[in-house]
Amino acid sequence: MTAGPDADDARHPPVTAGPDAADRRVRIYEVGPRDGLQNEAATVPTEVKARFIGLLADAGLRDIEATSFVSPAAIPQLADAEALLGALGAAPPRPGVRYPVLVPNERGMDRAEATGTVDAIAVFTAATDAFTTANIGMTVDESLDAFEPVLRRAADLGWWRRAYVSTAFGCPYQGRVDPADAVAVARRLLDLGADEICFGDTIGVGVPDQVAELVALAEGAGIPLEQQAYHFHDTRGTALANVAKGLDAGIRTFDSSTGGTGGCPYASGAAGNLATEDLVYFLDASGWEHGVSLDGVLTAARFIADALGRPLATKVGQAGGWPPAASS
Ligand code: COA
Ligand code: ZN
Repeated sequence: MTAGPDADDARHPPVTAGPDAADRRVRIYEVGPRDGLQNEAATVPTEVKARFIGLLADAGLRDIEATSFVSPAAIPQLADAEALLGALGAAPPRPGVRYPVLVPNERGMDRAEATGTVDAIAVFTAATDAFTTANIGMTVDESLDAFEPVLRRAADLGWWRRAYVSTAFGCPYQGRVDPADAVAVARRLLDLGADEICFGDTIGVGVPDQVAELVALAEGAGIPLEQQAYHFHDTRGTALANVAKGLDAGIRTFDSSTGGTGGCPYASGAAGNLATEDLVYFLDASGWEHGVSLDGVLTAARFIADALGRPLATKVGQAGGWPPAASS
């Protein structure tokens, strides 16, 4: 898994962005093992997580966010981060697969580096102080100060660096969010050396016109389309519509969670992350190339639903692909 930036470039060729691009390639960034499982009441055993990640890689996913090096008191479900990285490192190598991990501070960076295998990280802040204060105990400004040495160190190590801007469309505490606020935070993260900015609709309130507005504002602020990613939650059923609008606007990287794991901790019973199987079906039927097999994703989705002891509740998980031969 250890690789420098050149190897990164080779295994992740840049996608050509822009609505008129002949290129029809989309990158799916899988967040199930991290964002999905961190929000589940059940704690999944390390070997089950490793097997889940193996199935995701079998399905053709190439960016699989594996876990978080955060405080185990904050996220007990991911307290086994070292053991999981050990299990992934001990498995046969998967050329071209990247396993980013969340890092909130230098302590997390120490832990990630000590694994000897991490080569991609994600830092995470938000558009609103209320959310960052609840999530990481810092204001947005304080979080940017904390990430500065983390991003610098990761750059020195040649690691790939993503930065999340959560609550980009709405905040559970502060309500409506001005997209200019999200873009201002994103711009600062880019200046701190992030390779990719991921705008998160943490509580699933955004609609397509807002996606178009945010993409344009961010691009206008100097954040190129190919460095923008979008993370939609399907809490109110708008996630795929938002993806469609993002594609029209030239965005080519979208996050999703196999099995749709991860509820919103602020709205019990609400749907959480956009499901990878729903995204893959939508992209396949629309003629986008992404290298991910729907059958493979459904296999992984059934596996994790079983491990969590519940039926697979996603749309495509229940209905299957179509035509039926494409997904048995
Ligand atoms: N890994 C492990 N432990 C860590 C840590 C890390 N990266 N960073 C801090 N800790 C430990 C400290 O050692 C301390 O432990 P102690 O109580 O046994 O002494 C404890 O966590 C609190 O540390 P402190 O520096 O006071 O930070 P805090 O309590 O303000 O918490 C964060 C700050 C960022 C560490 C914490 O809020 C966190 O991990 N949040 C993650 C939230 C998250 O992952 N949300 C989902 C993703 S969007
Ligand atoms: Zn999410």
